[in-house]
Amino acid sequence: MNISGEVFESLFRKEFNSDPVLIHSPGRVNLIGEHTDYNDGFVLPAAINKRIILAMAPNSLGKIRMFAADMEEKRYETALQTEFKKSGLHWPDYILGVSEHLQKKGYSIDGFDLVFGGDIPIGAGLSSSAALEGGVVFGLAELFGLELNRTEMAKIGQLAENHFVGVQCGIMDQFANLHGQEGSVIKLDCRSLEFEHYPFDRDDLRILLFDTKVRRELASSEYNIRRRQCEEGVSILKEFDPSIKNLRDVSDDLLENHKEKLSEVVYNRCRYVLDENKRVLDACTYLQQGDFKRFGKLMYGSHYGLRDLYEVSCRELDILVDATESLDAVLGARMMGGGFGGCTINLVLEEEVGSVVESVKAYYKEKLGKTVEHHVAKIAQGVSVLETA
Ligand code: GLA
Repeated sequence: MNISGEVFESLFRKEFNSDPVLIHSPGRVNLIGEHTDYNDGFVLPAAINKRIILAMAPNSLGKIRMFAADMEEKRYETALQTEFKKSGLHWPDYILGVSEHLQKKGYSIDGFDLVFGGDIPIGAGLSSSAALEGGVVFGLAELFGLELNRTEMAKIGQLAENHFVGVQCGIMDQFANLHGQEGSVIKLDCRSLEFEHYPFDRDDLRILLFDTKVRRELASSEYNIRRRQCEEGVSILKEFDPSIKNLRDVSDDLLENHKEKLSEVVYNRCRYVLDENKRVLDACTYLQQGDFKRFGKLMYGSHYGLRDLYEVSCRELDILVDATESLDAVLGARMMGGGFGGCTINLVLEEEVGSVVESVKAYYKEKLGKTVEHHVAKIAQGVSVLETA
C-alpha cells in the first residue's frame, strides 16, 4: 500500500464523505536502554521513517466511526461515551482507550471519524501501538482544540495502553513517537521525564533492522512478570535502605551487599537493570564524543544482558546478533523492545550495508532454515500534521 497523505485523504472521503485532517505518526527504534523505562531509568529511542497516517474529522453524530485500512475487519463504530467496553477486535481498543483517558483527564471531545493505516510491521517491536495512540491523541487535540503538550499526550497513550488495552508498558514508546526529531535520538530520564535530543546523523552509518517475524504479544505474561521481579527486588532491598523507591535508586553496593537475600532470578533481573542504566549514560558520553565503536560495544553488552540476565531474548534474536559478531562493518547489534521476537537493531557502516545483509541472511538461513527481513531505518520527525500538496 502507498503510505501517502493523498491516499488516506481519498480513502476518508470515500468512507465518510468529508474532508479530514491528516496526521503522520511514526514507529520507533531504541538504540539502548531496554526494560529500563518502567524502572525509572534511562532510554535512548528515536522516531523512524515507518509510520501510520491517520485521517480524522469531527462528525457531530456523537459517535466514533473507525476504518482500519490494513486490518481484515476494517470497520468499528460505537457511541461516544466516557467509559467504553472493549471492542473485541483489538485495534479499536487503542482508539477507545485514548478517547476514554483524555476525557478522564478532563478534556472534552465530540464524535469523530477516523481512517488509518501504514507500514509499521505489527508486533515487530517498532511500536505500532504507540504510533496509533500518539496519532489519535494528537489528532483529537487538533480536532477539538485541546491544550495539552506532547509529554501529556504521551502519558495519555500510556494510560490507554496500561488501563484499557491491558499492557503494563512504560513510557518510552509513546514518548519517542511524540517527541521524535529528524536526525536525533532522545535521551529520556523516565523518572523526571526530562529529555534531551542528541544528534545521530552520521552519513557513514546506518540503522539496520532484522525482523525475525517471531511475534509474541507483549501482554503475554512475561513482560509483566519481569516488572514484578524488579518490584520484588526493590521491596527486599528497601529493608536495607528505606529511601529507595525503584531500581533507579539502587546502587551497585546495595545490590551486591544483599545479593544473598534475593533469589538468583531476581538478583539477575536487578543486576541487568543497573548495568543497562549505566550503559545508556555511557552511550550518551560516547555519542557526544562521536565514538561509535564504543557505543556499538555497549549495544552488544545490552544484548548479552537481555539474553543471559533478563532472559527476554529468543533463539532467532540471538542468532541474528551472533551473525554480526565477526563482521567489522557492524559496530553494534542487539535485540530491541520487549523481546521474545521482533527485531534486532544494528549499527552498520553505510557502504557495507549490502554485504552485511547478505551475510546475516545466509547465517540465519544456515542455522534456522528460515529467511529474515531487513529494513534500513531513518530517524524521523515525531507526530505531526501532514500537509498534502
Ligand atoms: C516495550 C514497552 C516499553 C519498554 C520496552 C522494553 O516496547 O512498550 O515501554 O518497556 O518494551 O524496553
